[in-house]
Amino acid sequence: MICVIGGAGYIGSHCVKRLLENGYEVVTLDNLEAGHRQAVLGGEFIQGDYTDRQTLDDLFRTYPIECVMHFAAYASVGESMTDPAKFYRLNVVGGYTLLEAMRAHNVPYLIFSSSAATYGEPQQIPIPEEHPQVPTNAYGETKRAFEQMLRWYDVAFGLRSISLRYFNAAGADPDGQLGEDHHPETHLIPLVLLTALGKRPVIKIFGTDYDTPDGTCIRDYIHVTDLADAHILAYEALKRGAPTTAYNLGNGLGYSVREVIRTAEGVVGHPIPQEEAPRRPGDPARLVASAERAQRELGWAPRYADLRTIIETAWRWHSAHPDGYGDRA
Ligand code: UFG
Repeated sequence: MICVIGGAGYIGSHCVKRLLENGYEVVTLDNLEAGHRQAVLGGEFIQGDYTDRQTLDDLFRTYPIECVMHFAAYASVGESMTDPAKFYRLNVVGGYTLLEAMRAHNVPYLIFSSSAATYGEPQQIPIPEEHPQVPTNAYGETKRAFEQMLRWYDVAFGLRSISLRYFNAAGADPDGQLGEDHHPETHLIPLVLLTALGKRPVIKIFGTDYDTPDGTCIRDYIHVTDLADAHILAYEALKRGAPTTAYNLGNGLGYSVREVIRTAEGVVGHPIPQEEAPRRPGDPARLVASAERAQRELGWAPRYADLRTIIETAWRWHSAHPDGYGDRA
């Protein structure tokens, strides 16, 4: 049985769905601070904090868990700079509590949601896994710190894990059941589509003077269902004896902010109000993954790599759910 921590969140809920479709038994643990109960499409559900040892002890005693997929974290880069303590408490101290509980209950495998933010300012593009990890924000630093803990927990205690370094998670469940619903929303694609729906007045383009062909930042957008599939492949690799390691998850394709907006206009069929704005502090000009290792070693093959397809799936969700899951003010 697989325990998905943060399974009511954006990426976690897509993973729960794919696990269920692949016949796995799942128990989701989520405190619903950011997650949505309706996003958990099946399996067992427990509302609780993964930072609470008693909750974890009860869970690991009740269910025969073989693998934890750990999605629960604070992820807003800007907030991590003003309140790093909050990020260390949940992402690192919480992670320690989880690992200790797994150790006590002999849970052998963990898949961890890491981030391209662990690399910091890229020294080369595309970014390989061996690239130095020098985060430029506290969020990325907490993800890097937990990756390092995982390394030593394997050396000392034999807990095997795979860290998956996502680039820009995007899109929505192709069946239209799940989507992205953050409060507040800070990510480009949902903001562009909410602007197209008239829920927001304008999409601001943060920085038009970057050293890129059209002056706006370039990112590697990767479909959330492709991310979910990579988690299942990583779990299967661990079961086959794969060593503790980390993989990039991206398409290896970069699109600029202007290209994203233009593609979205094509999908929604009308112009989207936009305005040029100053750079957002801390944004690297380009983040593009080399994801060859995940493809080669895990057999991962993204199915929704095309930007238009990614935006179409997101649009299907946002246009059908203009207020998201509707469970937040
Ligand atoms: N952007 C805009 N206008 C907006 C919002 C974003 O121009 O209103 C731009 C950003 O400046 C950036 C690009 O769109 O150039 C993408 O921004 P997102 O906020 O969607 O994503 P980020 O690349 O900043 O962040 C993502 C994840 C983080 C992670 C980071 C690096 O959300 O968790 O990638 O891995 F840390």
